[in-house]
Parts: sequence; C-alpha cells; structure tokens
Amino acid sequence: MSGADPYALFDAWFGLAQGSEPNDPNAMALATATSVGMPSVRMVLLKGHGPSESGAGGFTFFTNAHSRKGEEIRANCQAALLFHWKSLRRQIRIEGPLTEVTPQRADAYFHSRPFKSQVGSAASDQSRPMPDRQSYLDRVAALTAQYEAAGAVPRPAHWTGFTLAPQRIEFWMDRDNRLHDRRLFTLEGAADALKWTDTLLYP
Ligand SMILES: Cc1cc2nc3c(=O)[nH]c(=O)nc-3n(C[C@H](O)[C@H](O)[C@H](O)COP(=O)(O)O)c2cc1C
Repeated sequence: MSGADPYALFDAWFGLAQGSEPNDPNAMALATATSVGMPSVRMVLLKGHGPSESGAGGFTFFTNAHSRKGEEIRANCQAALLFHWKSLRRQIRIEGPLTEVTPQRADAYFHSRPFKSQVGSAASDQSRPMPDRQSYLDRVAALTAQYEAAGAVPRPAHWTGFTLAPQRIEFWMDRDNRLHDRRLFTLEGAADALKWTDTLLYP
C-alpha cells in the first residue's frame, strides 16, 4: 500500500485527544445496519489500530457477538466509525467492512482485562432482555465463586473483536466562521496495488 497516509494523521489527532479528553479519548460511535439497511449506532472503545492491525490494517473493538450489533454484523459486514473530540472540535469518519479477529487475539485481549471485567462480560447476555438486575448480579456472583481461585474466566466464544478495514477516512476540523477543513482519504486501485488518495471537500 502506498500514497498518502491517513493512519499517520489519525495518530497525530488521536495523540492530541489523549492529551485533552478527560474520559475515554478512544470512544467511538459504531454504526451498523441490518441486511435491509436499517441502521443502528452505539459507542465502543478503540482497542487497536494502524496499517498492520489484524494484518491488512484497520480499527479494532471488542464486544459480545450475540448482541444486537453482533447480529447486524453477521447479516451485513459494512460499518462506520465516528470519533468526535468535542474539546478539540474535530471528528474522524471511517467506513468499510468488518472482519472478526482471531480467537488468539480475542483471548489475549479478554484476559488482559481485570478479573471483575472478565466476569461482568461473561455474565452478560448483551442486548437480551434481563428479568431483573438481581439475575445479573447472581450470575456475576456464581462466576466469581467459580473462577476466583484461577484468577481468570474462560473467554465465551461469542465474546470477540472486530476490525474495520477502512475504505474511506475523513478528517474534519473546525475553523473560524464555519470555514471548516475536510480531508477525505479513499483507498483505490487493484487489490494487489491499493493506494490511499486524498482530496479536500467543501465543508
Ligand atoms: C463510552 C462507551 C464505551 C463503550 N464501549 C463498549 C465496547 O467497547 N464494547 C461493547 O460491547 N460495548 C461498549 N459500550 C456499550 C455499547 O454502547 C452498547 O450499549 C452495547 O455494546 C450494546 O450495543 P448493541 O445492543 O447495539 O449491540 C460502550 C458504551 C459507552 C458509552
């Protein structure tokens, strides 16, 4: 891959966000859609990114694949991400298909999390109806008792990660009098000679 490098620009902006956002500078909105194009969006955390991410490059998050988003991703792999750093007055839009990370990668990330987070994730049927909060707390207590001595919970097979391989990345920056900057990178060319090209857009 050659040409302009949106990952370098992403890193520069992400670095600024890490220095300025008080909470979760890695939070991003993830938009997915059903097979008939009904959209939905929610926040997730960026847990890996770059030109070599998961081999071909991209942006990775982790979740429960039995969730609403997981069902939508299975039916339609196309997705979009949005970062908005309010104090920087900047946004980045990223679009492309999602692929699941390897089980080894999902295991490594799952077990890098604190024990109580592992328990909470394993006990949650994410996005499914819950009869009452106590049912969840009972599951948490049961898993804690079962795995406390081991200090780790086996990763549920449906708890995994996805990497979005971008085909478009757009950087937006606030400028005076609403004369904002927009710079769009698109991935173009044959599969064996992909190249980023960039262009400016009217705001
Ligand atoms: C700042 C923030 C970060 C979040 N990060 C994640 C995440 O990394 N993974 C995840 O599954 N849910 C995360 N959530 C919860 C999701 O927004 C959402 O409630 C959950 O994944 C269920 O979404 P779904 O029903 O569309 O599948 C986060 C929420 C917030 C507000």
